[in-house]
Amino acid sequence: MRKSVIAGNWKMHMTCAETRAFAATFRPLIAELPDDREVVIAPPFTAIPTLSRHLAGTGVAIAAQNVHWDEKGAYTGMISATMLAEHGVSHTIVGHSEPRKYFCESDEQINLRARTAQRHGLIPILCVGESLDQREAGETERVIHRQIEQGLEDVDPGQLIVAYEPIWAIGTGKTCPAQEANRVCALIRGWVGHGDVIVQYGGSVNPATIDDLMAQSDIDGVLVGGASLDAEGFARIANYQVPARV
Ligand code: PGA
Repeated sequence: MRKSVIAGNWKMHMTCAETRAFAATFRPLIAELPDDREVVIAPPFTAIPTLSRHLAGTGVAIAAQNVHWDEKGAYTGMISATMLAEHGVSHTIVGHSEPRKYFCESDEQINLRARTAQRHGLIPILCVGESLDQREAGETERVIHRQIEQGLEDVDPGQLIVAYEPIWAIGTGKTCPAQEANRVCALIRGWVGHGDVIVQYGGSVNPATIDDLMAQSDIDGVLVGGASLDAEGFARIANYQVPARV
C-alpha cells in the first residue's frame, strides 16, 4: 500500500521569524496524523535549519526547492545535494514549472538534478505538467510523456515522487477537476512503469478541494503552494479525510 505524501512548497516566502511562527501553530495540529501519510515541507534554503529545528520530532520531512547537479563548483546562486543533506533535507523538488519557465531549465538538466539527488539519498519530487495552450491543443499526454521519459532517464523509480502540476492550475485558484487529475496521474504511473511510485497532484490545492482529490484511486498526495503558507489551512490539508475504501 502506497503511503500518501502531502507536500508544501513555500517558494520564495517565509523568513526565519515567520517560519518559527508557522511551526508553533502547525505542530499541535498535526500531532495525531494517521500513519497512512507523510508530510514534507520545502521552505526557502535560508529557513531550512529553523524549520527543521522547530518541527523536530514531528516526523515532518524537509525538502529543498531545487538542487544543482554538481557536488561543488563555480555556480553562483546554486546549492548542492551534499549541502542540503548536511541539514537533514530528505527530498528535493526538481523540474517545477517556475524554474522551467523563468530560468529555462531543460528536461536534460532536470534529469541531472534528479539523478544527483538520488545519488545523495534525496528523494526527487519531479514536477511535470502542461500549459493551457498545450491542453487546448490536445497535447497534454505527449508533453507529460516527454517530461517523464527525459526527466527520469536512469532515475530509480523506487525512490521517487512525481507531481502532476498542470501549469494552468498553479496559483490560479483553478484546481484541476479531481477525476481529470486522477486520469493523468494514472497515465503517469503507467509511464513511470513502477506500481509503487508516488504520484501527487499539484495546482491550487486548498482545504476545500483536498478531500475530493485524495479520494481518487491514483492520486497519492499533493504538492501545495499558496495554501501551504497558512499553518491552519495546511494542517487541514495534511489531515485530509477520505471515505474508508471497501
Ligand atoms: P499553488 O502552487 O498551490 O499555489 O497553485 C502549487 C505549486 O506550484 O507547487
